[in-house]
Amino acid sequence: MTARIVGIGAYVPETIVTNHDLANIVETSDEWIYSRTGIKERRISVKEETSDLAAEAARRALEHAGIKPAELDLIVLGTSSPDCNYPSGACEVQAKIGAVNAVAFDVSAACAGFIFALNIVQGFFKAGIYQNALIIGAETLSKVTNWEDRSTCVLFGDGAGAAVLKNDDCGVIDMLMGSDGTMGDFLKCKSRTLGNLLTEERPELGFTEMNGQEVFRFAVKRVPESIETLMKRNQMSKEEIKYYVLHQANERIIEAAARRLKEPMEKFPMTISKYGNTSTASIPLLLDDMLKKGMLKQGDKIILSGFGAGMTWGAVLLEWCI
Ligand code: ACO
Repeated sequence: MTARIVGIGAYVPETIVTNHDLANIVETSDEWIYSRTGIKERRISVKEETSDLAAEAARRALEHAGIKPAELDLIVLGTSSPDCNYPSGACEVQAKIGAVNAVAFDVSAACAGFIFALNIVQGFFKAGIYQNALIIGAETLSKVTNWEDRSTCVLFGDGAGAAVLKNDDCGVIDMLMGSDGTMGDFLKCKSRTLGNLLTEERPELGFTEMNGQEVFRFAVKRVPESIETLMKRNQMSKEEIKYYVLHQANERIIEAAARRLKEPMEKFPMTISKYGNTSTASIPLLLDDMLKKGMLKQGDKIILSGFGAGMTWGAVLLEWCI
């Protein structure tokens, strides 16, 4: 048995912030941002929290799947920007959509969160424990962005994407995950700092900090490596793969991965120009975009690849069976 995607949904806040808008608040330009990242604009939430975006993406995915919330056994939400330390965002989504029979929890794997969520569900399905699951990637990274730091504030955006999964006989073929905590300082957002009755300091909130070049080096090595591992151990040729659905971190990372894999850019669909880097939401947002454009057909073999802070990475080879 395996995880079959039976519904996809996505939701982004309506407010668009362009590169030109950002050039009014930090010393940057549309030319600098677009040429180095492929980003033109991103969505920024004004009123909606992560769980609001996640719940709306979830409703749309359930509607697409034709499954009622009460039929869900499991909800796994990948996020690095939850509304609360506790309860989990997944529990908040459970309440918002009325998934009364599900068990719900979050997974923290930064931009690899959606892939980790999918792989966790795959494990439960293979063990025969659950039959219907909802996975979500959702972020309001705008609230952990330092809007005075031009090297990071131009990169990120808010959004959510979700997939409904059924335990079935067609879908995920193989998957892998990895992490390397020694690279943790490459990309970091500290939570509240220590501050309590025994310290003089008050707790402070962290913002996203990044060593862009180290993240770049990590991604262009790990992404092709993990994709090649999946193809090799499943005796899959490049010709059999229709699309590589990569985390939308940066167009230059995707181009470098395509070069290493010796595959044409047409096989690497992108949404980075309109949404920026939405972390764990980027893969389901991209799948939703591809579906709406009619790019995914029954029987297509695709590879999903996520990578992010931790550092973490994961990839999934699957057959599209909607
Ligand atoms: N506008 C104008 N100038 C800028 C900006 C900006 N927004 N940001 C940085 N600069 C300047 C720097 O201050 C520096 O100036 P200096 O030479 O006078 O010191 C110059 O541009 C070069 O800075 P670098 O950091 O070396 O820029 P680089 O060419 O490496 O590009 C980038 C930065 C795009 C972030 C690149 O390192 C990269 O692509 N890294 C990959 C990381 C990434 O994409 N992270 C996304 C999140 S991680 C994830 O999702 C897994």
